[in-house]
Amino acid sequence: MLKGKHIVLGITGGIAAYKSAMLARLLIKEGAEVQIVMTPSAKEFITPVTLSALTGKPVVSEFFTANTGEWHSHVDLGLWADAMVIAPATACTIGKMANGVADNMLVTTYLSAKAPVFVAPAMDLDMMAHPSTTRNINLLRSYGNHIIEAASGELASHLCGKGRMQEPEVIVNELIAFFNKSQSMKGEKLLITAGPTYEKIDPVRFIGNYSTGKMGYAIAEEAAARGAEVTLVSGPVSLKAQHPSIKVIHVESARQMLDACKEAFPQTNIAIMCAAVADYAPNVQADKKIKREKDEIPVINLVKNPDIAATLGSEKKDGQIIVGFALETDNEQSNALDKLHRKNLDMIALNSLRTPGAGFGTDTNVLTLICKNGFATELPLMTKAEAASQLLDAICRIK
Ligand code: C5P
Repeated sequence: MLKGKHIVLGITGGIAAYKSAMLARLLIKEGAEVQIVMTPSAKEFITPVTLSALTGKPVVSEFFTANTGEWHSHVDLGLWADAMVIAPATACTIGKMANGVADNMLVTTYLSAKAPVFVAPAMDLDMMAHPSTTRNINLLRSYGNHIIEAASGELASHLCGKGRMQEPEVIVNELIAFFNKSQSMKGEKLLITAGPTYEKIDPVRFIGNYSTGKMGYAIAEEAAARGAEVTLVSGPVSLKAQHPSIKVIHVESARQMLDACKEAFPQTNIAIMCAAVADYAPNVQADKKIKREKDEIPVINLVKNPDIAATLGSEKKDGQIIVGFALETDNEQSNALDKLHRKNLDMIALNSLRTPGAGFGTDTNVLTLICKNGFATELPLMTKAEAASQLLDAICRIK
């Protein structure tokens, strides 16, 4: 069930660390590749030799290998991971994670991780009940981390209460459920807009933009491959949708795109607004080609186009999610967040024109996914197909 998944398993210094050996084994049994990162005090509870023998990979614990000076890159590890699991997570490590106290390999890896993070707290009942622990766990939640709640029962201190690390089987099942949920989109109905709009001046001229539709088409293909039914409202592009579950509605202008979206939206549960819609259109469209006059320069008066994302945002019902895109050149994150709120979106994918490899026409993109609460996940440079996959994973997480 976890075939090919890269899991970073972070182990901290608590009695429950002995269960992490079993957790590593179960993850590997499910097909995952496991890389262990231990805090120095975790080594007092379980030896790195046991863990490296189980995973087939040297355990990482220090920033450098003492005798060779070789540097262990927490950034590479953070990027390698499809998920990071910290089990057991002591009150100390939870506090460091919540507050960015990056004084060991585990916390630096956590801060660099782009992947979802699962935290399985384990500690004595009084530590668990302390307001600082509650506050730190809530902070981790607010960062989008998944908390695998501690169980109640007998603790190492022989006291009875909440603080036992969840059993390895429970943790593995939680990961499997997460990946299943994030990957399957069976039964989902998506509406995606893509490409530019052309705003007609006369039969041979228009106002348009350089959008090629690559990002929107990549999202449509990925969603269809995951089992979703997709309606793709596409402006004029030279791309063709490949997957049979993609229904393409070809439009030209923003008005036509709006009409198609308004019709499809009530049957939709996820709308992704990827199109580069022209902000203005000529107020009149000439029936005949406008002739060049000798001394006269024609004046084209413009009218504002409808905002499709904002219109759908104002019609959104419970259970519907709208995701927008924002192409910004300055104050990127705050402008994108403003846009998200103004248009009543649930998430916005920011791409900056300043980032090489991002934007119109390229096969790659660099996205920052921003949620309603302002929490932002910066994705590295990747193909538009990979970016589509990450975006859909993120949407499934907020559903
Ligand atoms: O306001 P701005 O054009 O920057 O907003 C970008 C987001 O809004 C994108 O998701 C885009 O597809 C959507 N949009 C729209 N209709 C418009 C303008 C933008 O749906 N008229």
